[in-house]
Amino acid sequence: MKTVLITGGGSGIGRQFCRLFAADGYRLVVFSLMQDELDDLALELQRDFPSVETVLVQKDVAQDGAADEVLTYCEQHNLAIDVLVNNAGFCVFGDHVAVDGKRLESMLKLNVVGLSQMCRVFGDEMKRRGSGKILNVGSMAGYIPTVGMAAYCASKAYVNNFSAGIAAELADYGVQVSVLCPPATQSKFMATAKGDDDTGKAVEKFVSGNMFTAEDVAKAGYKGLMAGKRRISVTPMLRFSMFMMQLFSPDMLANLTLKQVKKLKAA
Ligand SMILES: NC(=O)c1ccc[n+]([C@@H]2O[C@H](COP(=O)([O-])OP(=O)(O)OC[C@H]3O[C@@H](n4cnc5c(N)ncnc54)[C@H](OP(=O)(O)O)[C@@H]3O)[C@@H](O)[C@H]2O)c1
Repeated sequence: MKTVLITGGGSGIGRQFCRLFAADGYRLVVFSLMQDELDDLALELQRDFPSVETVLVQKDVAQDGAADEVLTYCEQHNLAIDVLVNNAGFCVFGDHVAVDGKRLESMLKLNVVGLSQMCRVFGDEMKRRGSGKILNVGSMAGYIPTVGMAAYCASKAYVNNFSAGIAAELADYGVQVSVLCPPATQSKFMATAKGDDDTGKAVEKFVSGNMFTAEDVAKAGYKGLMAGKRRISVTPMLRFSMFMMQLFSPDMLANLTLKQVKKLKAA
């Protein structure tokens, strides 16, 4: 039986990943933050996929040393990880100079440091074994420096680029690394990101038009991962948009988002 490790599987896109891997008979190892969401996930999986083995662990994967602790946990429980999905992540809306310093630091620790450390420890283990897949959840936002979420966008630009680098490093060792770049998606994400200042509220409106469902996003990620794609977008049109955005300078894109956010603030 193959085993998948999913971070942030308690809700949103991560929870849909749990359902997709369960439907394909994978054993699920989920590390997520809130125990009540894990309890709820356990009931859902038991009801819909009664034969699937699950190991659900409450854990902050952004804490110092978390990735090594997760690996030790897996080794102690004889869980060889075939697929790692680094999905946990969050955003903080608002003018950068106004956001809470602790929230900002937690976000960067999770989105950037925690993800990189998970790739280091599990990438090394997969390389030794000569097989494995890693799916990092980046974002289309990583292509657009957006006012009101500047640090989040930069953190996801990191995920998008970092994934390309390690994909090339690990390819010769039988390890596939892919990055999923979702557009705005219905989940708890917006509520978590909520900013209290005018910019925070305006950027929330700006990014919440035309949202995709978490199910559709996870399905695209799953399909792309299994097809061996390194960079996965949710639709061909979004893939084209990602290509187009690379033709513009970051300054031009940031100024465009500033105009939109100013309009929404004035409305
Ligand atoms: N929604 C969007 O518009 C969108 C667009 C592009 C990319 N993304 C990315 O997609 C990924 C999933 O987001 P989502 O939209 O599904 O949001 P979500 O519903 O808020 O899910 C995020 C999950 O990560 C977990 N998590 C947060 N901090 C954690 C930590 N320190 N350790 C372990 N787990 C933690 C959360 O647990 P709790 O529920 O317990 O807090 C939650 O289960 C994120 O990386 C996000 O940046 C989202």
